[in-house]
Amino acid sequence: MVFLNGRMLPIAEASVPVLDRGFIFGDGVYELIPVYSRVPFRLDEHLARLERSLAAVSIRNPYSRAQWRAHVYAVVDAQPFDDQGVYFQVTRGVAKRDHAFPRDAQPTVFMMSNPLVNPPRAQVESGASAVSAEDYRWQRCDIKSISLIGNVLLRQLSAEAGAAETILFRAGKLTEASASNVFIVSRGVIAAPPKSSLILPGITYDVVAELARANAMPLELREVGEAEVRAADELWVTSSSKEVLAIVSLDGRPVGEGRPGPVFRRMYGLYQEFKQNVMRAGKREAVSA
Ligand SMILES: Cc1ncc(COP(=O)(O)O)c(C=O)c1O
Repeated sequence: MVFLNGRMLPIAEASVPVLDRGFIFGDGVYELIPVYSRVPFRLDEHLARLERSLAAVSIRNPYSRAQWRAHVYAVVDAQPFDDQGVYFQVTRGVAKRDHAFPRDAQPTVFMMSNPLVNPPRAQVESGASAVSAEDYRWQRCDIKSISLIGNVLLRQLSAEAGAAETILFRAGKLTEASASNVFIVSRGVIAAPPKSSLILPGITYDVVAELARANAMPLELREVGEAEVRAADELWVTSSSKEVLAIVSLDGRPVGEGRPGPVFRRMYGLYQEFKQNVMRAGKREAVSA
């Protein structure tokens, strides 16, 4: 069952008019929330990012925080599987085609949930490969926009190379990857670009930064040069679906020793432990707050 504009219905019955601005202009924003054992992970952080994305593109937020929570829970509860990826998007709505905002369109809200696919154990243990490319996307990558053509084209480069991700550089500086954030480790110090309009503020990025700080692992959020990435001992990508994944080959050259490093293994363990604790607590944020 999926959610469309306030109703739960089978996906085959869910349809949106062709003049929806999401279809015509890619005029909308989205979120993807991982759900472990039916407990949404960092729900309020994802909803806060959605609220920021909507505000940044001046799409009216149709629901209060409490209503959003209730809709996410309804979608989660309507699935027969426990580990889920809840995807949802809000577009500016249906209107005659014209670039300027329509006067009175109703935002379109669509939510669906699929089984969550995290990297298989074998890939966690052996690491993944990546290629690199120049980051030619727009300069508001902090907005989680459904206009993903830049990310799609950049991801396709690694797909065609049989690699897991495309790591992006803008004018010689690391930004992120086509669908994840990027961390490096050099001489035991973890580093990642600071949040800016050139990267998506990843929820997993925040969890990794919090875990590093809580466990006295040296962490620097600062500009990271391309040469530093290529000389790093370890390279990781982070996202809600990839969690923390080691990249052991970049553009066909080994990263560090060509296998997941000790700092990665520690962070991966901390991340899994953190997730287990969230699941065990089984806590759902209050719907009425
Ligand atoms: C471009 C980009 N950067 C970073 C991320 C990671 O964000 P999160 O950790 O919130 O999943 C994503 C997630 O889809 C993404 O598309």
